Amino acid sequence: MVTALSIVTKKYEETQKLGEELGCRLSPGSILALTGELGSGKTTLVQGIGKGLGIQSLIKSPSFVIIHEYSGSVPLYHFDLYRIAHPEEIISLGYQDYFYQKKGIVVIEWAEKMEDLLPAEYLKIELEIVDLFKRRIALRAYGSFYRRVIEKMKKGGYFVASGYRYLGKKRDFVPGNQRKSPG
Ligand SMILES: Nc1ncnc2c1ncn2[C@@H]1O[C@H](COP(=O)(O)OP(=O)(O)O)[C@@H](O)[C@H]1O
Ligand SMILES: [Mg+2]
Repeated sequence: MVTALSIVTKKYEETQKLGEELGCRLSPGSILALTGELGSGKTTLVQGIGKGLGIQSLIKSPSFVIIHEYSGSVPLYHFDLYRIAHPEEIISLGYQDYFYQKKGIVVIEWAEKMEDLLPAEYLKIELEIVDLFKRRIALRAYGSFYRRVIEKMKKGGYFVASGYRYLGKKRDFVPGNQRKSPG
């Protein structure tokens, strides 16, 4: 079963398209943790996810707002932790409400800053700059829901059309249930 794979996008529209393909397959309560340096395409991917959810307004990098809410077919909660220095700040923002109560889709930029606060099940998306226009984007499913999302995209032909490779020797990635949930 595919649980971890990577693709290379060659222009920003392709990264948006990946986001869109993902976005329309998510459910309320889905959590996506994006990591990667400045300019790696995190916000671009979130824009695509928003498109997949039918969000009309332009999603941008929230400069001083850490959590931005958008309404679509399902609400989208866009976290941008760029300015966060300590995990305590994320706790004081009440991230738990967004994760566990609000029933929207949570997408987190700079998720490495709250690694220890992530739940047992989520989709990790690691973005990497290859060159000016190429981005390597790795999807790692922690939990069966996210594995199914990847499987559905695979069945829909998305990955075949884009070109992809499995990560690691084993197809199955380390399951997320080995992680501790907060509290
Ligand atoms: N393949 C690609 N995917 C995404 N962005 C790309 C790609 N190639 C070039 N870019 C450019 O890289 C920048 C990515 O910016 P952004 O999505 O805001 O990144 P981040 O949120 O990770 O800082 C944009 O200027 C975009 O036009
Ligand atoms: Mg950004």
